[in-house]
Amino acid sequence: MSTFLIYGQNELKGEIEVKGAKNAALKIIPASILSEEPIVIKNLPEIEDINRSLEMAEALGTIVNKDKNQCQIQAKNLNTIELPIGLANKFRASIMFVGPLLARLKEVKFPHPGGCVIGAGSRPIDLFLEGFQAMGAEIKIKNNYYHLKAKELKGCNYFFTTVSVTGTESLMMTAVLAKGTTILKNCAMEPEIKALADYLNEQGAKIKGAGTPVITIEGVDKIRAGVFNIIPDRIETGTFAIMAAATRSNITITHCQPKHIEILLNIFKKVGIKFETGNDWIKIKKNKNIKAYSIKTHEYPGFPTDLQSPYTVLMTQAHGTSLIHETIYDRRLLYTDMLTQMGADIIMCDPHRVVVNGPSKLYGRKLTSPDLRAGISMIIAALIAEGETEINNIYQIDRGYEKIDDRLRALGAKIKRCE
Ligand code: EPU
Repeated sequence: MSTFLIYGQNELKGEIEVKGAKNAALKIIPASILSEEPIVIKNLPEIEDINRSLEMAEALGTIVNKDKNQCQIQAKNLNTIELPIGLANKFRASIMFVGPLLARLKEVKFPHPGGCVIGAGSRPIDLFLEGFQAMGAEIKIKNNYYHLKAKELKGCNYFFTTVSVTGTESLMMTAVLAKGTTILKNCAMEPEIKALADYLNEQGAKIKGAGTPVITIEGVDKIRAGVFNIIPDRIETGTFAIMAAATRSNITITHCQPKHIEILLNIFKKVGIKFETGNDWIKIKKNKNIKAYSIKTHEYPGFPTDLQSPYTVLMTQAHGTSLIHETIYDRRLLYTDMLTQMGADIIMCDPHRVVVNGPSKLYGRKLTSPDLRAGISMIIAALIAEGETEINNIYQIDRGYEKIDDRLRALGAKIKRCE
């Protein structure tokens, strides 16, 4: 198993380019099977989750041609209604293939998606199932295996009782090929949802309202071939901005969309982090004293849960006390125990809240990355810490950050990958 060795307390400087958004790519690959014609995807991040998603597309009978950050998917001949259990168990976003497969073949079998340790037990998919049912699918469940079948998918009215990003995207994609009009209410509003809808509309779909709480989809007969340019990863953008501030470095983040992390930049103003922004770049300036500021994670445009862990590391370096309230997932604060082992003063109030007293000196330790976002926050903590930090289970980091070690080394970080 690979490991990162990091020697901290090194000032970073220079430019870092943001890659294509993981959570946009993980939807556009499944969306490609809505069309019988080829789709070209550009600015694809080279990360493990994307490899798994392309493997799943191939396992369903599509032809995938990949060359570095670009790929073409041709889904004319889908040859199975079943998501292979071995692959579906590896990544949660395998669930994104269910709706498009149901829309194309009117039948799909799949196991409960695996691959993530941040939600309660195995993360629920009840909203997906309710939505597919509302569109006319019959559902049988046996031994954690689902079998969905529909003579025809029909437009429906569906209200999300919990706001769900992948739930919104799944029902939106499925409704594109359903008969009649679908109205989805209380939808998630993340930029990746709007990007997916814009792409599908260019290829013949009729989707209105993506990026707002109400999305209306008028079913069409077919989706044409097309080209999709993946939007910059807003979580990478925010993570690099936080890393620059936490390590007191001058770093320019390029190829990004600052407007997608507006909440973070507004918090930076409050805590005393100086920065400049352009259309597609953010320059974080070397700062001295950062003030503590409490946050509560929230659906977009609120504070993203995927930036909670890097922000918590930042707060260990801020003056004062902050409350970090994680409202989306109930196992996404467990990693704070490792920050405590590094010397942070963090008190866990309950599974959803921690209090951070700063600033604290951090010391290098031997750590294991439990999930993607906790993993990147350990890298940031290691870059601040005195001495050597060893991070194990870095597959979890490679799932979502392309060649992170090479990119951080280019900024002057002392980070080594040991196979
Ligand atoms: N939920 C249900 N029932 C469902 C679906 C979700 O109760 O059927 C609950 C979840 O348990 C959670 C809440 O709804 O408490 C919100 O979860 P959501 O469905 O929005 O999360 P997701 O769509 O599974 C996506 C991202 C996550 C990101 C969240 C929140 C993808 C592939 N994943 O997950 O990204 O944290 O939205 O923004 O888009 C990551 O990149 O590290 C990651 C976990």
